[in-house]
Amino acid sequence: MHDFSQRDPISGVSESLWQRWSPRAFDGSAIDDDVVARLIDAARWAPSCRNEQPWRFHTSTANTFNDFLALLVEGNQGWAQSASLLGFIVCERHFQRNGDPNHHARFDAGAAWMALTLQARAEGLYTHGLGGIKYDEVAAYLAIDTQRYDVVMGFAVGRAVEVSALTDEQRAREIPNGRMALGDIWQSYR
Ligand SMILES: Cc1cc2nc3c(=O)[nH]c(=O)nc-3n(C[C@H](O)[C@H](O)[C@H](O)COP(=O)(O)O)c2cc1C
Repeated sequence: MHDFSQRDPISGVSESLWQRWSPRAFDGSAIDDDVVARLIDAARWAPSCRNEQPWRFHTSTANTFNDFLALLVEGNQGWAQSASLLGFIVCERHFQRNGDPNHHARFDAGAAWMALTLQARAEGLYTHGLGGIKYDEVAAYLAIDTQRYDVVMGFAVGRAVEVSALTDEQRAREIPNGRMALGDIWQSYR
């Protein structure tokens, strides 16, 4: 069990939420294709503005993992090489219905990402978001039309290394972090 002492959820908040965290030490084991399909299918059920579903997911396989890895900034490549799968989330910039800019597209992609993440937890997997990616190179690799699509973020998926198997150096950083106090993010108007 990892050290959750920095986390102080109110009693009753779902463990699937407060015990989710972003490991950097993964065991590199393979993930079955049908599990990957369930992760993306989970994302499909996220809510979105006008049900436009602006999210698009691009994921690596064993053949392309190193290509995806090279598209992360160097600081992320070090730990992300232990992940099982890497992916990029791209969103459609405009509403399909009328071509207007969709100002909620990235927000909706975030909701889909969280759905993917919670499905990952249900599968015994963890995700780790990646803002540190080479955005222009990602767009070129994926051959996306950047007038139409925006590269939103990358992500790693894998199985977290058990605490007992971590090196001392890893153990110091594989500690789930804390959060601002509830009162710092919430005002209730009475
Ligand atoms: C959009 C986004 C971008 C992120 N980019 C990086 C990144 O480039 N490198 C990294 O190590 N972690 C990255 N993270 C992970 C965050 O640092 C992490 O989610 C945050 O510290 C909260 O920790 P937790 O996920 O363990 O609860 C990113 C997370 C998100 C959601």
